[in-house]
Amino acid sequence: VDLVRRVQAMQEMARQARGTGKKIAFVPTMGALHDGHLSLVRRARELGDVVVVSVFVNPKQFGPAEDFTRYPRDLARDADLCIQESVDHLFAPEPDEMYPPGHRTFVDMEGLTTVLEGAARPNHFRGVLTVVMKLLHIVKPHFAFFGQKDAQQALVIRRMVKDLNLDAEIVVAPTVRHEDGLALSSRNAYLGPAERAAATVLSRALARARQLVEREEVRSARAVEAAVREVLAGEPRARIDYVAVVDAETLEPREEITGETLIPLAVFVGGTRLIDNALVRPPAAPRPPAGDLA
Ligand code: PAF
Repeated sequence: VDLVRRVQAMQEMARQARGTGKKIAFVPTMGALHDGHLSLVRRARELGDVVVVSVFVNPKQFGPAEDFTRYPRDLARDADLCIQESVDHLFAPEPDEMYPPGHRTFVDMEGLTTVLEGAARPNHFRGVLTVVMKLLHIVKPHFAFFGQKDAQQALVIRRMVKDLNLDAEIVVAPTVRHEDGLALSSRNAYLGPAERAAATVLSRALARARQLVEREEVRSARAVEAAVREVLAGEPRARIDYVAVVDAETLEPREEITGETLIPLAVFVGGTRLIDNALVRPPAAPRPPAGDLA
């Protein structure tokens, strides 16, 4: 794998690839790569002629009291994994390279970014959208890949691409889980053994929601949310940050579960904040065309 540290070098590479008619497939990450990321890289390998992975722990998307400084970093290991997956370019800039002194331009979005994760983490999505916009301009991909585990992030990125007429196709891939249901996340590394066991409560709560909506045909959002909270409350190491039952496209709270519905949750397990979500729909509801925003 070719390790690229400079924005200009990456842009030049991208220009050359595009110039020779190659399709660029791009997986942006913050490193500490796991099978969730690698599933995105494999999709990228299928769709692209040139596969680019970025590893950049983006300071602008962390709050002052969050885990930016202790976020896991292991570029040598990430590079090994990229070699195994036949990644062509690993773009890993330093913070000063991405945000040189004087940087003062940000991407902002109304509404969708101020609820759920955005309410819990002010300025988080401003940081995410800004870095993703920059990365799309630097890597110039035909396809860019994101995980459904960060459902709201995937939604706001699709919205930005549509609103600002960006020339990349956003591909959202399913959450990868451990056998016991826990969604893969770089932050799982913070969990001690007892917390790791307790952390399965997130996927258990979501499985209960799916059962209620899809098998027992419960339509009341309030009833489903209460059932999710009850499962979470059964785990003494877990503390709920939020649970919601919302429209999957607008993120507006639902009263009745009629169409495609997102159930996102954020839960502290010990000192570690984990997120997960389920997309559910009543048995009769038709699936919306994938990737289409109103
Ligand atoms: O999902 C992530 O890892 C990050 O939010 C992203 C998309 C790489 C932007 O920093």
